Amino acid sequence: MKFGTFDDNRKEYVINTPKTPYPWINYLGNEQFFGLISNTAGGYTFYRDARLRRLTRYRYNNIPLDTGGRYYYLYDNGDFWTPGWMPVKRDLDFYECRHGLGYTSITGERNGISVTQLAFVPMGYNAEVHRLVVKNTGSVEKSVKLFSFAEFCLWNAQDDMTNFQRNLSTGEVEVKDSVIYHKTEYRERRNHYAFYSVNRPLDGFDTDRESFLGMYNGLDAPQVVANGEASNSVASGWSPIGSHALNLTLAPGEEQSLIFVLGYIENEEEDKWEALNVINKKPALAMIEQFATDEQVDAALATLAAHWDGLLSKYQIQSGDDKLNRMVNIWNPYQCMVTFNMSRSASYFESGIGRGMGFRDSNQDLLGFVHQIPERARERILDIAATQFEDGSAYHQYQPLTKKGNNEVGTGFNDDPLWLILGTAAYIKETGDVSILDEQVSFDSNPDNTATLFQHLKVSFEHVTNNLGPHGLPLIGRADWNDCLNLNCFSKEPGESFQTTANIEGRVAESVFIAGLFVFVGPDYARICRMRGQDALATDAEAKIEDMRQTTLTHGFDGDWFLRAYDHYGEKIGSKENEEGQIFIEPQGICVMAGIGVEGGQAEKSMTSVQERLDTKYGIVLQQPPYSKYYLNLGEISTYPPGYKENAGIFCHNNPWIMIAETVLGHGDRAFEIYSKIAPAYLEDISDLHRTEPYVYSQMIAGKDAVRHGEAKNSWLTGTAAWNYVAITQAILGIQPDFDGLKVDPCIPAEWDSFEITRVFRGDTYIIQIKNPNHVSKGVASLTLDGAAVEGNIIAPVLDGGVHQVVVELG
Ligand code: BGC
Ligand code: NOJ
Repeated sequence: MKFGTFDDNRKEYVINTPKTPYPWINYLGNEQFFGLISNTAGGYTFYRDARLRRLTRYRYNNIPLDTGGRYYYLYDNGDFWTPGWMPVKRDLDFYECRHGLGYTSITGERNGISVTQLAFVPMGYNAEVHRLVVKNTGSVEKSVKLFSFAEFCLWNAQDDMTNFQRNLSTGEVEVKDSVIYHKTEYRERRNHYAFYSVNRPLDGFDTDRESFLGMYNGLDAPQVVANGEASNSVASGWSPIGSHALNLTLAPGEEQSLIFVLGYIENEEEDKWEALNVINKKPALAMIEQFATDEQVDAALATLAAHWDGLLSKYQIQSGDDKLNRMVNIWNPYQCMVTFNMSRSASYFESGIGRGMGFRDSNQDLLGFVHQIPERARERILDIAATQFEDGSAYHQYQPLTKKGNNEVGTGFNDDPLWLILGTAAYIKETGDVSILDEQVSFDSNPDNTATLFQHLKVSFEHVTNNLGPHGLPLIGRADWNDCLNLNCFSKEPGESFQTTANIEGRVAESVFIAGLFVFVGPDYARICRMRGQDALATDAEAKIEDMRQTTLTHGFDGDWFLRAYDHYGEKIGSKENEEGQIFIEPQGICVMAGIGVEGGQAEKSMTSVQERLDTKYGIVLQQPPYSKYYLNLGEISTYPPGYKENAGIFCHNNPWIMIAETVLGHGDRAFEIYSKIAPAYLEDISDLHRTEPYVYSQMIAGKDAVRHGEAKNSWLTGTAAWNYVAITQAILGIQPDFDGLKVDPCIPAEWDSFEITRVFRGDTYIIQIKNPNHVSKGVASLTLDGAAVEGNIIAPVLDGGVHQVVVELG
């Protein structure tokens, strides 16, 4: 069942009922100010850090779900309702939510009044702008009242939901003209406040939650709204809110627009006050002035649209498959940008107070946005690298505000260092900018201990070769990509983190996944060494990669598939010999991506085994059979009920590894089959089962052993976005940035006739037509650039800033 439709021309997903199977959200903001907004106007806003600078309150785990947001109540002669349906839940004669790129527009209509509530964060401003268009769709004049509502968070979201003995006494506001200022803690150490304004005179206001709601009411029935009368309350402690009351009289057919701004202001220490305890409002008023008219709002929307068009124009496909087009052209790159902005901090599954930025996660996310914002990707790489240690190991997470490694989570995830090579190589392949390798970068964020980024890559590579186990495979440490396969962290304490509990000093547990990753990214490192004239280093690296390939085949292959690991006792994991967890997806994907066993047939066997043992109609599960009980020597993976998360869930993050692996073997039909099983646009018709948004990927879909097979969770903030983007745009459609230029090497379903891709690469635009007259999956028979034949399948960068025609014939 569907709950909406794609409007590709407007780059929107249009939801036609507020009762989606789960709140379907969007992200507002591209720079420093952000909002999460659901299709019923739920969600919250924050400045830079969702934990430390939260402007508005949101209650995770609330009943009903998703209450708390930007609410505009319409009072109409005793009746009252909200255009997004929630929280009042009064029936609407019409409802529509349009989630677009960086904005959301929700329309509700009831009894001849229609309200459209548009929300976005204008580029260059720390605010959400809400435009309300109220229209009389009936034939008689109407007098209605509009009540806005935003509940302020007392800045630190964690403290706000726990420290009531203090917080219920600190709340402070000011109200001046049509602006409500939230200034809790501004009297002491904070130099920031929030404001909420509207561009017309008020007929009343409220700033105290209980006065607005009534002591025992919920947001569905605020007493002020029910009575149609604001109480002009001024908050003193308790819970400050912002609510403007506005009386509107509308002739038949008349519409009026109101512009609200919910903004964030920082003042210099010496400019904090206008008078004793009266905040300096000048910067707020200056911002409000920028959004006083519809023309100004329209101009800001146009700037936002141009921003997104610019980002998305770097890679556009035209094919006969609408679902493919909308994933590649709009929604997948959009989600990649959201992972750039948010990392794993704030979603409807991430509370904004939990995780920092992952070393591994951030490097992988980069694969999905490096072509859109190369300069920011460069900065990100340098930030990540600066948290690394001299021996190549790395903090597993770092905090975006301080950019320092997170001590609580610590180090010892032995795959982490290799992802830095992957991320850096992707950046150089995209941009050709090798100067990044000469940047001086700290170790452990210590400015007195720096080395070139190249040196960081070297210690990353060597961290693996310096930490080999009994079979010559890489030691796993606390975990590798699979955070939940914890082979050295035996945990018996309820509530203890599986990843950070005392690490057993044993140097026995080994990871075949890290071995595969080493062989996969190693050649890029060797190439980078050669680019720097370090031939001896490169030759040495190549020998080590070759050794690892052999070791993987000798000790990491189980007959029909790659093993997963050796545990703390040296026993096999992911082997026929195991009772449960006999085969895992990760080593099959990464080892074949690395080309291991392609010649000897092991790679083919591995892919066949994945298809036979791990495939389902909703995607490929992580392992089989699932663990039916807790295994102390395996850790968190065995804590999940069978079919969920790492215990045999469909992890959408590593399904693309199998797609890419299949393309290594030339299996274009199979690669695309897997792609379309998990790409959200293809799942729109089963939204009732899938439940999460049909326009973005979720981290996990419940596997075949789960009670709710096919149901997804953890949408938006997942490495899934980047890897699926790589799988489809590079491996399947075949446009691959490489050190020497743009490589064209598609691997597609044989029945495809042709498709066209426009790719901006190092400043030139390539219009690439790919024709498949002989209906093959793979193999470039000929390639021309501006009419001239090119030898091989790499387009050397033209670098004239022009538009170039490329024609590729497969065969
Ligand atoms: C989740 C993993 C996650 C890990 C670290 C676990 O509970 O299942 O997916 O990577 O926590 O945050
Ligand atoms: C989520 C983490 O963010 C990611 O780094 C990890 O690879 C997956 N979980 C799998 O455990």
